Amino acid sequence: MNPAESAPLTAPPSRPISDRRGRTLRDLRVSVTDRCNFRCGYCMPKDVFGRGYRFLSKNQLLSYAEIEKLVRAFIRLGVRKVRLSGGEPLLRPDLEELVRRLARLEKLDDLALTTNASLLTAARAESLKQAGLRRVNISLDALDEKIYRNINQIQSPLADILQGIEHAMAAGFDSVKINMVVQKGVNVSEIIPMVRYFRGRAAVLRFIEFMDVGNHNQWSLRQVFTAQQIIDRIHAQYPLQPLHANYHGEVAKRWRHVDGKGEIGVIASISQPFCGGCVRARLSAVGELYTCLFARAGFDLRKFLKLNRSEAELATQIGALWRNRQDQYSAERLLRPQPTGETNSRKVEMSYIGG
Ligand code: GTP
Ligand code: 5AD
Ligand code: SF4
Ligand code: SF4
Repeated sequence: MNPAESAPLTAPPSRPISDRRGRTLRDLRVSVTDRCNFRCGYCMPKDVFGRGYRFLSKNQLLSYAEIEKLVRAFIRLGVRKVRLSGGEPLLRPDLEELVRRLARLEKLDDLALTTNASLLTAARAESLKQAGLRRVNISLDALDEKIYRNINQIQSPLADILQGIEHAMAAGFDSVKINMVVQKGVNVSEIIPMVRYFRGRAAVLRFIEFMDVGNHNQWSLRQVFTAQQIIDRIHAQYPLQPLHANYHGEVAKRWRHVDGKGEIGVIASISQPFCGGCVRARLSAVGELYTCLFARAGFDLRKFLKLNRSEAELATQIGALWRNRQDQYSAERLLRPQPTGETNSRKVEMSYIGG
């Protein structure tokens, strides 16, 4: 039996809890759907996520009330930051209602969204801001229409995404970040055009090393363009200086443009893993708790919701799971002789767990 299942249902701790490696629980990523209207090759390749693919049905998804109850339990354990993700979270009807429910929770300092921006009209950006959303991160891998379509495998024009980004910037969020997944042989040529486009604008561009998430993206180390290579390339044209992290556990390393035109970030999960500072839990759209992005299985919290357990009882269960946590997948990958991304057992899909 999992230790958490046998844990006594006593009052939850009032101070932050640590896992077996001394990492406190601070952030929560909540996936609200496993569906997406894009088919990015590194996440949901078309040949696997095609017509026959069985996505979750509506009645399997946690309701907004259930998500709120779980988030409240996580807050009791020290969570202060929540990020909504998917699949594509804006596919979930009236996401604003969930934002409203979470934005009013005391002690939650940060409420953010990761989206592909295809559905981010001006009205939608405004209503999310009104509902209490603080920050938005948007995926964009290229400015060249051909490269963009080749990666994201959708027919909607790049101009729509660029518009979505403008809408996010105009809505007055605390921050807007752009996520570019860099793959050798695919979009390295887009690094400089992306820097040129976003420099001096109200959006922070971040470069993400291609990761071996899920089981279908044909990951290979040979396709990883490292953070150092990215920085070297940008620095040669636009000089950079390193910056300190904004907060403990920030996944991106920050750099500023020496000429004052803002900053960029690099997320080096492959070449410089950050498991040592990983304070992040993940909740799937059906209510499973994952303690690592690369986990093989989640722990079913929904059954406790169905049993009508109190917030305090849920917190006790979650606390027991977190205390028992040892995950450090990326750090261990670095030690493997020739990592290929292939393992004996299946990992959770990125689109299922939300990044
Ligand atoms: P901020 O709160 O703005 O710093 O956002 P974030 O970088 O935590 O979230 P976002 O959804 O923008 O994710 C950016 C990239 O970082 C994605 O590729 C995520 O999969 C990756 N990422 C986020 N958290 C982790 C993590 O704990 N481990 C690993 N390996 N990658 C992560
Ligand atoms: N490697 C790195 N980043 C990825 N993302 C999705 N799949 C991968 C991958 N295999 C990014 C998306 C999105 C964020 C949540 O995760 O681009 O911005
Ligand atoms: Fe959809 Fe984001 Fe995955 Fe692309 S990376 S397929 S936009 S969930
Ligand atoms: Fe955290 Fe797992 Fe990512 Fe390491 S690989 S930083 S433990 S989510």
